[in-house]
Amino acid sequence: MPITIRRAHIAEGSDDLVKVAKLDVALNKESFGNKCWFSAEGRVADWLLGQKNNGHPGLVLLAEEDKSPKGHVIYLMKENNVCFLSSLYVAKDFRGAGIGSKLLNCVVRDAKSRALSEVYVTPSKDSKPFYERNGFLVRENKPLVIMYLPLV
Ligand SMILES: CC(C)(COP(=O)(O)OP(=O)(O)OC[C@H]1O[C@@H](n2cnc3c(N)ncnc32)[C@H](O)[C@@H]1OP(=O)(O)O)[C@@H](O)C(=O)NCCC(=O)NCCS
Repeated sequence: MPITIRRAHIAEGSDDLVKVAKLDVALNKESFGNKCWFSAEGRVADWLLGQKNNGHPGLVLLAEEDKSPKGHVIYLMKENNVCFLSSLYVAKDFRGAGIGSKLLNCVVRDAKSRALSEVYVTPSKDSKPFYERNGFLVRENKPLVIMYLPLV
């Protein structure tokens, strides 16, 4: 089955909100373990709705196989014309097939269309090479790794 990427409809009670929250919980559990604050779907959903209502709409995309969610990306608008990639996740069995790169390309295209100057991310240790291959540069190494992709 082909994978399709589409914009998620983030609204109170929407199916997409549930799909994105489930994927984000899977990402957070994989990255930070079961005890992290964002390991509950309700919390992620509330946070996402809050971001939308606080004027940080950015973009939320879903990668689906026959309407079944397999990956997602969330980026948030920040000050100074930049955006922050807060989540990028592909379900384990679907990795290595280019879905993560496609989601990232969609973010870059959208950010360019908004004339943003960069996308930045705090990558996990394992995903740092993925971002490097996609053109990201290291801005800071300590205490957190921060990587960015210049768009202009
Ligand atoms: C990072 C991630 C989104 C990449 O998605 P993907 O669909 O596998 O990406 P692509 O297929 O476009 O690229 C895969 C490449 O990334 C590498 N990679 C980086 N991190 C990886 C990981 N945790 N698992 C598997 N492959 C990973 C692979 O080795 C592969 O390299 P190759 O193309 O030289 O074989 C996905 O691995 C993932 O969800 N990881 C866990 C969550 C995470 O770390 N997200 C980033 C947090 S900021």
